[in-house]
Amino acid sequence: MSFSIERYKEESKKVDVTGIAWDDVTKHPLSKGDLFCLHYMMDIENHVPLYLSHLLVTRACMDPILTAFLACWNYEELWHGENLGRLLNLYGIEFDTQERIANVRANLGFQNSVSIFSTMAGSWLLKDFSAVYLTIGAINELTTLTAYGALIRKSGHPVLKDLLGRIIKDERRHYAFYYNSAKEWLSGNERAQKVDRWMLDRVWVPVGKGVKKQEEVDALAVYLFGDEQGEEELLEIDAQIGKLPGLAGVKLMSKALYTARERIGKNPRWGHRLIENEEWAINPPTRSPVGELTTRRTPATEEAVVP
Ligand SMILES: [Fe+2]
Ligand SMILES: [Fe+2]
Repeated sequence: MSFSIERYKEESKKVDVTGIAWDDVTKHPLSKGDLFCLHYMMDIENHVPLYLSHLLVTRACMDPILTAFLACWNYEELWHGENLGRLLNLYGIEFDTQERIANVRANLGFQNSVSIFSTMAGSWLLKDFSAVYLTIGAINELTTLTAYGALIRKSGHPVLKDLLGRIIKDERRHYAFYYNSAKEWLSGNERAQKVDRWMLDRVWVPVGKGVKKQEEVDALAVYLFGDEQGEEELLEIDAQIGKLPGLAGVKLMSKALYTARERIGKNPRWGHRLIENEEWAINPPTRSPVGELTTRRTPATEEAVVP
């Protein structure tokens, strides 16, 4: 698995959706579980531009190769979210994408600002912060592409399969960048390996946690990976990340699945109820009107007036 930043800069573009049979989206059913996952995935893809604000304040971003990657990566992720939203809208689920994104962000509240500050402080205090940052990037990208593969399998929806297949190709490139960069940083660097391992065991959370609540993370994990094949796929993620220097035997995604199962063991409705009740709408927060946060006072559908 090789990666060339020069080639990536030259070839980076928005996912090509030419020829996708959008007209056939409604010809094939999606289950409530599929729809729940699609909303989750879309929200997390759409969260990337804001997540970037956490990444750019770190010591890792003194590296121009990393910032070049992030500039292209951010644009590609934007189009993943856009196209997942397009598919959902065509399937008949009505929402305004910009309003939904604004609501997701507004619900993050003050915690988002605190988190930016703690990430920044952590990165400047820890010399090997980059190792942690790059490893988490690798796990997130590998988890994302594995989850898209699982959703293709679960849904059996041909149009979704075509779209996700194209998005997966982008995610593989992202994974290659993070994995190779993490390997480079960790190779022959015992201190970085120790810091990385310590942080992964204690502060790592599955992709989307923070934007999504624990129960939502569990619902997605159990829907996509709760069967035998899914569990094997998660174990394979751990095995891949375990090949990085100093991370042999690391348990991340498998641990996330097992703890989700424990919570379901205590409360059998945990997670499932969100899917059954179709709880994928995003409501604005009660105390912070989105208009105040986005400075938008007019509906997004109104045409902009050029001064
Ligand atoms: Fe993506
Ligand atoms: Fe990605």
